[in-house]
Amino acid sequence: MKYLVTGGAGFIGSHIAQQLAKQKGGDVTILDNFSTGKHENIKGLPVNVIEADIRDLEAVEKATKGVDVVFHQAALCSVERSIQNPLLSHEVNATGTLKVLEACRRNQVRRLVFASSSSVYGDTEVLPKHEKMPPSPLSPYAITKLMGEYYCRNFWQNYGLETVVLRYFNVFGPRQDPDSEYAAVIPKFLDALLGGKAPRIYGDGLQTRDFTYVGNVVQANIAAATALFAAGEIINVACGDRWSLLHLLNCVEKELGMDVAPEFLEPRSGDVRHSQAAIEVAETILGYSPEVSFEDGLKETVEWYVRTLGQQSRAAEFKQASGS
Ligand SMILES: NC(=O)c1ccc[n+]([C@@H]2O[C@H](COP(=O)([O-])OP(=O)(O)OC[C@H]3O[C@@H](n4cnc5c(N)ncnc54)[C@H](O)[C@@H]3O)[C@@H](O)[C@H]2O)c1
Repeated sequence: MKYLVTGGAGFIGSHIAQQLAKQKGGDVTILDNFSTGKHENIKGLPVNVIEADIRDLEAVEKATKGVDVVFHQAALCSVERSIQNPLLSHEVNATGTLKVLEACRRNQVRRLVFASSSSVYGDTEVLPKHEKMPPSPLSPYAITKLMGEYYCRNFWQNYGLETVVLRYFNVFGPRQDPDSEYAAVIPKFLDALLGGKAPRIYGDGLQTRDFTYVGNVVQANIAAATALFAAGEIINVACGDRWSLLHLLNCVEKELGMDVAPEFLEPRSGDVRHSQAAIEVAETILGYSPEVSFEDGLKETVEWYVRTLGQQSRAAEFKQASGS
C-alpha cells in the first residue's frame, strides 16, 4: 500500500505517519510546507518527505501518483488564527482541501481520510454531539472544515473517490506545539507550569472538552483507511466524555506535583462552551473504541513534555555557557 500524509510533519500527521511506517510493506510519503510542522517530528522515520504546499495543485498531483490512501491532515488549525486572518484559513483549509481532492481524482486514488473538527457543531445545547446534528460553525476555521467535509462527500458522490470524514475532538499528546501563539490548551498549560508561570484560562474554566489522546485518533485513521462501509461517512473521533479546563489543569498539576493558581482572562470569541462526542458511529463503522484513557494519555503527555522541555532548557544553558 502506498500512503500519503498531508501535514505529516505536524502533531497528528506525524503520529499517523509513524504508525503507518511501522506496518509491514507500507510506503509512506509526507507532504508538508513546514509552516507549523517540524522536521524534528519526523526525524528518523522511514518516510519520503515532499516539501510542498497543498495549494500547489501540480505538486499535490505529482505526490498523489500511484497512492492508494491519502490522510489529509494539512491545515491552519487555530480558531483564533482564522478570526484574525479568515482569507488565509480559507485558502489553505478549503481551497487547499479541494486541490488535494482534485489531485486524488485525477490520479484515481482509492480513498482519502479527511481531518475535520468538532468545531463544525458550534455551540449547541445538545450533548453529546452526534453526526446527524445540523452544523453551526462559529468561526472561519469551522466553516473551512465544513466546506472540506462537503467537498469530500461531493467527490464521493460525483467521482466515486472514497472519502471518509473524521471529526476530531480536542486532540492532545506528545509533539503538540507549545510555542505558537495559537497553541492548544494542554501544551500551553505545560509550557506555563514548567516555565514557572501561571497558566492562563479564557473564561471561568468550567467550559468542557472531550479531550482525546492522539493514539486514539491514529487508531481511527488507520481503521478509516480500510473500513468497508466508511466511504461517504462523517464520523466523530473522541472519547465520548468531557472534562472542564479546571479539572484538566488540576490533573496536569497533580502529575507535575505542582499547585499554581491560574490567571483568568476574558472568554475568546468563536470558542464553544461545551463539547462531548457521541462515538457510536465510530464504534459501528470503524470498530473504534478509545484505547487510551484521558488519564493515561495525560500521564504520557506530561512525561514527554517534562523530558523534552527539560532537554531543551539544558541545551540552551549549555549553549549559553559555551558562548556558542
Ligand atoms: N489538534 C486538534 O485538537 C485538532 C482537532 C480537530 C481537528 N484537527 C485537524 O487535524 C489536522 C492536524 O492538526 P494538528 O493539530 O496536527 O496541527 P499541526 O499544525 O501540528 O499540523 C498541521 C500540518 O499541516 C502543515 N500545513 C499547514 N498548511 C499547509 C499547506 N498549505 N501545505 C502543506 N502543509 C501545510 C503544517 O506545516 C503542519 O505540519 C488539521 O487538519 C486540523 O484541522 C486537529
